[in-house]
Amino acid sequence: MILQDAAWTTRAGAALAALVRGGDAIALVGDLGAGKTTLVAGLVAALGGGAASSPTFSLVNEYPGGRLVVWHVDLYRLERAAEVVELGLDDVIGDRRGICIVEWADRFAVMPPDHLRLELAHAGVRRTLAATGTGPRGGALAAELLRSLA
Ligand SMILES: Nc1ncnc2c1ncn2[C@@H]1O[C@H](COP(=O)(O)OP(=O)(O)OP(=O)(O)O)[C@@H](O)[C@H]1O
Ligand SMILES: [Mg+2]
Repeated sequence: MILQDAAWTTRAGAALAALVRGGDAIALVGDLGAGKTTLVAGLVAALGGGAASSPTFSLVNEYPGGRLVVWHVDLYRLERAAEVVELGLDDVIGDRRGICIVEWADRFAVMPPDHLRLELAHAGVRRTLAATGTGPRGGALAAELLRSLA
């Protein structure tokens, strides 16, 4: 689908917030500036989480305030696969107290087998969003998200 402007990207994050449940994992894929962080901000805000992030994990921002904790990971600055271990991702992926959303998820193999994959791309000044699932739960989330945004 087409996201006409940044507010649409925020709204896509908010729509996702209404659908997720504890333990869900979301991969965010897309070029520099495609809108990944904008979507995460919309998701966190709609879940009721504050902007505060915790330094518990080096590259994981934790937004604990809302219906679910959001663990926001950005792999852009990660250089070596060995560093993935230091992220502490194993501690949060699948943790039913919250959801895990990963920017630049294609850079390293960090996602669990069944997750929602969101691909953002530039389309002139606008963006496109594609949602797919890599298993039953991811597939259900993708279908529900596209339905709720239609
Ligand atoms: N649908 C949209 N149409 C036009 N501009 C958008 C859209 N969504 C987000 N933007 C704008 O794109 C810019 C980059 O957004 P954002 O930082 O979320 O991208 P990103 O994918 O996280 O980038 P990075 O790869 O650097 O992490 C921001 O100025 C944002 O407002
Ligand atoms: Mg970003």
